[in-house]
Amino acid sequence: MKLFVYHTPELTPKDKVPECAIAVDVLRATTTMATVLASGGEAVQVFSDLDKLMQESESWPAEKRLRVGERGGAKVPGFDLGNSPLDCTPERVQGRRLFISTTNGTRALERVQDAKVVLTAAFVNRSAVVQYLLEQQPETVWIVGSGWEGSFSLEDTACAGAIAQSVKAQTNLSLDELAGNDELISAIALYVQWQDNLLELLHHASHGKRLLRLNCLEDLKYCAQTDILNVLPMQQEPGVLKKVP
Ligand code: MLT
Repeated sequence: MKLFVYHTPELTPKDKVPECAIAVDVLRATTTMATVLASGGEAVQVFSDLDKLMQESESWPAEKRLRVGERGGAKVPGFDLGNSPLDCTPERVQGRRLFISTTNGTRALERVQDAKVVLTAAFVNRSAVVQYLLEQQPETVWIVGSGWEGSFSLEDTACAGAIAQSVKAQTNLSLDELAGNDELISAIALYVQWQDNLLELLHHASHGKRLLRLNCLEDLKYCAQTDILNVLPMQQEPGVLKKVP
């Protein structure tokens, strides 16, 4: 198994696809997706375009859907929710499909949606994703950070490092055997430096600061937790993710 890290969708190769792609948006889209599916949501369907989301979700019964729209960290007017994982309680999401569009996370997923297997990861469900990799041993794995509008995000690369570090610790593979690119090695170094202070890392991150300005400290605390949800979100058809039993 070779792991590759790409810091943003823009840095991800366009001329090939891996056997397995993992989209990461710790703050907050992939944390929200893991939470929704762990709380009994039927599926998560992602859109980069807000109007298309509204149009497609219209054909879904109102009591069976939730519309999530986020831009710049804030809820989009007219949507049910604004991408806080803390809003995704079992009472609210049970049996419903989440139609979601966010600034960067949904773009990252669209970028890798042609891979044979597409997963989403955040710190909260890191161990479920690692377990899948250890069991299935895909030959090539791309871990793709969402970044922020084309720029590097500390938290996504740290989460990529958390996945890689855990795979390395549970196999006999050396760093050179595991690493598909230099970014993988720097991601592990970033994670190892901050693994005991992930909340502090999120406070240093530019999108963490943006969310703090929007009074989302509780979201940061939740997103900084590691391995709290045993849920593996996997793409079933382009743009639609479900929990794998
Ligand atoms: C994104 O896609 O950029 C985010 O998930 C932003 C957020 O809701 O914090």
